[in-house]
Amino acid sequence: MIPLETYKVLHILGVLLAFSALGGLALTVANGATKSTSSVRRLIAITHGVATFVILLAGFGALARLQAHGVLQGWVLVKLACWVGLAALVAIPYRRPALARAVFWSLPVLGGIAIVMAVYKPF
Ligand code: HEM
Repeated sequence: MIPLETYKVLHILGVLLAFSALGGLALTVANGATKSTSSVRRLIAITHGVATFVILLAGFGALARLQAHGVLQGWVLVKLACWVGLAALVAIPYRRPALARAVFWSLPVLGGIAIVMAVYKPF
């Protein structure tokens, strides 16, 4: 049986990797990179894909260890919404370079909300 702590370490590792990928993407695009000129496009796509998968998998693993079965609680639903945002953000910078800086600044906002939900579980 995988312990809660292991799931949380994996979960946070996934978060670190996803945020590194998205921060790198947003700033390289803000600096002028395009889909065809970026030399790190594949690295970003792979790390973002693996990381979002790990966040979700380890998040539900941790949830199972917390015995939070049945209907998903409010704080988990908010975290799921943050996760959807995190997964979708990767599609924006190359398509709308003018939004690259907004993508960058949305990262601490999304991450902050998800952390507050996990720590305080307000609802
Ligand atoms: C933007 C995405 C996310 C971020 C930044 C994030 C961040 C975090 C952090 C930093 C923790 C550690 C909190 C602590 O140990 O006190 C945590 C715990 C946790 N997260 Fe996430 N998370 C995200 C998405 C999700 C999703 C989608 C789920 C749901 C499946 C989830 C479920 C959990 C659970 C169950 C815990 C353990 C809470 C506890 O031990 O009391 N997270 N998350």
